Amino acid sequence: MSSTPVGSREIRGFRAGDGPPLVAAWCRSAPVDPITPDRFRTLVLLDANFDPEGLRVAVAGGRLLGAAYAVRRLTPLHGTDLEPEQGWIPFFFVDPAARGQGLGRLLLTDALNWLRAQGRTTVDFSSYTPHYILPGLDAATYPEAAKLLDSLEFRTLYEAAAMDRSLVGHRMPDAVARRRDELALQGYRFGTPADDDLVELIALAGNHFTRDWARAIRECLAGGAPADRIVVVR
Ligand SMILES: CC(C)(COP(=O)(O)OP(=O)(O)OC[C@H]1O[C@@H](n2cnc3c(N)ncnc32)[C@H](O)[C@@H]1OP(=O)(O)O)[C@@H](O)C(=O)NCCC(=O)NCCS
Repeated sequence: MSSTPVGSREIRGFRAGDGPPLVAAWCRSAPVDPITPDRFRTLVLLDANFDPEGLRVAVAGGRLLGAAYAVRRLTPLHGTDLEPEQGWIPFFFVDPAARGQGLGRLLLTDALNWLRAQGRTTVDFSSYTPHYILPGLDAATYPEAAKLLDSLEFRTLYEAAAMDRSLVGHRMPDAVARRRDELALQGYRFGTPADDDLVELIALAGNHFTRDWARAIRECLAGGAPADRIVVVR
């Protein structure tokens, strides 16, 4: 599949030169979840599974109006399983100035058709690892996308929870410090893993949580993240 002309609009695969206008249109389209060129490069362009034909872009008169990203595994996440039936849509958007004219549906349908042409029979929105971009669809922030996905028969698989707190002025609550001291007396140790501890930590993450956690620990530390970003309890 190469390109589909739609009136004066064309939907086609990603080409050199599309990145900067795509990032700019993304930021206009989803100002709550903007992306930087660096993050786009890391999460999309440098992903071993990136296939430029899967990143469908809509252009008209030389302007990029929107995009829908379809991806499937070319490299297994672990072992040799290429998950040959599975595809993902990590993101899609239409520039606010071009909305309400059917382009979102067209882009998403085009991306789904591309996945179908690659033999994919199941497609999930957002839950792509290793490079997920959104933890799921926030229907309160993106009600139009929720309606569009619903009309294409996407259904909620599970809900992701997130938490955050400001660290400005934060001090450890007394009850937490007391609990830490009690546990330390019982022999628990809290702290940064030593290099040799990483072997057990990665095995624990991969076997008891998900394989993607093992990968994340490996790649973060190999990529230069300081080990004290990790706190382990033994
Ligand atoms: C979701 C989005 C891509 C839709 O783009 P669009 O070009 O306006 O969509 P279309 O004109 O093709 O409409 C497709 C469907 O979207 C839904 N939709 C679009 N605009 C809507 C609105 N204002 N209110 C409710 N539903 C709406 C409808 O289900 C519509 O189908 P219908 O026309 O048969 O009713 C666009 O609103 C957008 O980019 N939103 C912000 C980014 C985003 O939400 N991305 C998804 C998460 S990554």
